[in-house]
Order: sequence, then C-alpha cells, then structure tokens
Amino acid sequence: MAELGVNIDHVATVRQARQASEPDPVWAAVLAELGGADCITIHLREDRRHIQDRDVRVLKETVNVKLNLEMACAKDVVDLACRTLPDQATLVPEKREELTTEGGLDLVGQRDQVAAVIEQLQDVGISVALFLDPIAEQIDLAAELGAQAVELHTGQYALEQGEAQQQELLKLINAGQQIVGQGMALHAGHGLNYHNVGPVANMDQMLELNIGHSIVARALMVGMKQAVHEMKQLL
Ligand code: PXP
Repeated sequence: MAELGVNIDHVATVRQARQASEPDPVWAAVLAELGGADCITIHLREDRRHIQDRDVRVLKETVNVKLNLEMACAKDVVDLACRTLPDQATLVPEKREELTTEGGLDLVGQRDQVAAVIEQLQDVGISVALFLDPIAEQIDLAAELGAQAVELHTGQYALEQGEAQQQELLKLINAGQQIVGQGMALHAGHGLNYHNVGPVANMDQMLELNIGHSIVARALMVGMKQAVHEMKQLL
C-alpha cells in the first residue's frame, strides 16, 4: 500500500486569510497523524502565502511521522531546510503568480542550479525527491543527479476525463517503471482526490502519494456540523 503524505498547506491558507493564529497547521498535523497519515507535507513558498517559517520549525519538533518539505531552489528556503532538517525535501518549480504548482521541474533547463541544491540538502542528511512531469529525459537526469525519489506530477491526469485520462495514466505508469528501474523511489501527487486516486495508488511500486487540497476541503465539510453544534451550545 502506498504511504499517504497529507499536505496541510491550506489549513495555513485559512489562517493567513485573517493573519490570525488559527487554524494552526500544527494541530491539523496531529489530527492527520491520528487519521493515519504516514507523512506530513508542507510547501514553504517564497511568498509565504500559507506555510510560515515558524510552522516548519514547530512541525519539525512535533511531527512523529515523516516530514516532507516541498520547496523551490531559493536560497533562503534552502538555508531554512538545512537548519531545520525535514526528513525529505521535494524540489518543485515556483512562480509567484501561480495559484498552485504548475508543471514539474525543468531539470534539463536548470541542471546546475538543481544539482547544487540536491548536494546541499543531501550533505546535511535530507532525502531529496524531484517533482517531475512524466518525461523520460527529465527522469534520466534525476537519476544522474542522484535524487532518492521522483514525485510524478499527476496534475494533468487529474484534469482529464475518460480516454484522455487513461492516456495520462499510461504516461504515469511508463514513467513509474522508468523511475523504479533507475533505482529511485516512486512518489506522485497534485490534484488527486477521492475519485481519481485509485489507479495512481495502484501503480506498481508506488511508495508515497502527497494529497492536500481535496483532504482539507473534505475535512471542512465533515467537520462543519460538529463545529456549528459546539457554537450553538454556547449561545
Ligand atoms: N505534490 C506537490 C509537489 C505539490 O506542489 C502539491 C501542491 O502543493 C501537492 C503534491 C498536493 O497537491 P493537491 O493540493 O492538489 O493535492
């Protein structure tokens, strides 16, 4: 069975909407662990729109499962990772104007920059995953640069329906075989939800799935009744 990495960024998104102290992603991480999360995933974006530096530090102290930090190759974030020492870093591309991560890393275009960051992270004992589209050339380069894992970008698969979705699944399956064949661990994520996760979870040797938005969205819905009930009791 694939391990579940629960991405709690959007708990912090709700907090930052009010610049408040709640909801605290640290509390969400505890509940996610109680629910069976094998890994807590957070993305420290360059613009700090959701997860803050403090969250990374406190989660490092409190998370009892694997802590996976998604990050761009930006100097301040790399420095913070090297000081805080999450178990794993997943390198992603980042554009300030995007709503969420769009597309995998371009290893071919940014080889030297990514290679230097991989070395810096691995030197302090952080395991490195690279977030890639299912493209053979990119995966070859990930193996060459010594990445421990590749997280396949499932965003396009998640966007498609029917036959087009099957085509995307086939690309992921072929890429998955290549990743495992080249000695790297196979991860996947982005856009996965309660309807489309099955075929990706069933891919041969799938080790880790990182899922955020759909779990946080569902958590709001399954928890709303209880939250209103508790407030009503106080009136
Ligand atoms: N994996 C990576 C590398 C991501 O950047 C994200 C989004 O932060 C996710 C997984 C989770 O995506 P989603 O929120 O769509 O489940």
